[in-house]
Amino acid sequence: MSTTIDLYHPSHDEQISVLFCCLGNICRSPMAEAAFRDTVEKLGYADRFSRIDSCGTAGYHVGAEPDHRTIEMLRKNGITTDHCARQVAQKDFKNFDYILAMDTSNLSNLKRIEPKSGKAKVMLFGYFDGNKRKEIVEDPYYGGNSGFTENFAQVVRFSKNFVREVLQVEIPE
Ligand code: 4NP
Repeated sequence: MSTTIDLYHPSHDEQISVLFCCLGNICRSPMAEAAFRDTVEKLGYADRFSRIDSCGTAGYHVGAEPDHRTIEMLRKNGITTDHCARQVAQKDFKNFDYILAMDTSNLSNLKRIEPKSGKAKVMLFGYFDGNKRKEIVEDPYYGGNSGFTENFAQVVRFSKNFVREVLQVEIPE
């Protein structure tokens, strides 16, 4: 069954906040956070974002820096990160406009703890895959480097589509 999501489109004088979420907050979501920040800076839309952050549904790695393979993937693409892992908190649902999950397990865990009064649109980042397949950013933790390479290509592509679809602006392919 396909569900249509009512996106929140900020007006030109409004900023929005985006929180990326995976399981451990050391591989995929800090990569997504850093790649998204880099993408919006390169496209000239950084000033439309009040906050870009990431978190995990689990607390195993709280306080840790990203996995060395995420840091290396970002470094190869000229991107740095100073993120420290943190677990999602109830206040995130009130403070962020979008909470973007990497896979369906992250999404269902977020939905389970989502407060009724939250403002955030909680959805798969892969909603912005550009081909309506709702791509999953697969957990690369126990695999090789190829998982990180694939994750990076996805999060850059989804970031561009997010800017295009949410800010409703024309950006190059
Ligand atoms: P992430 O990857 O959710 O993309 O940060 C993982 C990191 C750690 C573990 C699993 C996935 N772990 O089992 O510790």
